[in-house]
Amino acid sequence: MPTSSILLSALALFGPAFCKPTAAPNTPLITCTPRPASPREQQAEFEKYADLLYVKRTPRPAYAYFTANDTQHNPYVLDGAAASFALVNPIYINHTNGVEMLHQGFQAPIGWVHWRLDGGGYPAPTAVVDVYRFEGACIVEHWDIVQTLPADAINPHALF
Ligand SMILES: *[C@@H]1O[C@H](CO)[C@@H](O)[C@H](O)[C@H]1NC(C)=O
Ligand SMILES: *[C@@H]1O[C@H](CO)[C@@H](O)[C@H](O)[C@H]1NC(C)=O
Repeated sequence: MPTSSILLSALALFGPAFCKPTAAPNTPLITCTPRPASPREQQAEFEKYADLLYVKRTPRPAYAYFTANDTQHNPYVLDGAAASFALVNPIYINHTNGVEMLHQGFQAPIGWVHWRLDGGGYPAPTAVVDVYRFEGACIVEHWDIVQTLPADAINPHALF
């Protein structure tokens, strides 16, 4: 019996009440609908976003905080949530890669996360700071700074 049939049989046996639906990889992204938000609301949204992305490692629901056409400053990614999601999603959902959030902060309308990445095609470990700008309830702009430990480092401290 192919795995898919076994899974389907399991679903039939246990019924939808027992299965947590997970969206198929090519399901269209649900992005943020522009609406007003106070600085306090923005901070709450940012903390939910950071938890979904860097702790729970679930980019799809995290991207509900991104506007569809955000301005992107990572030189390797085009503007828009779909473009950054295509890059980000495989890294975060693959738990072979280490993702550890170290610090986060928010001062309206800007939030930032300092985190450690091990893997994902980058030399391990890599230090990343992501900076996000909100307009109302949505993230509309992103910058990132990515640093690996150089071979000619003069300071003996680790990156972390
Ligand atoms: C994104 O789309 C919204 C709504 O269509 C528009 O108001 C806004 O100017 C766009 N932003 C950018 C950066 O293109
Ligand atoms: C998961 O990540 C590891 C390490 O970066 C990589 O070797 C592997 O190919 C990835 N798996 C998938 C399914 O992308």
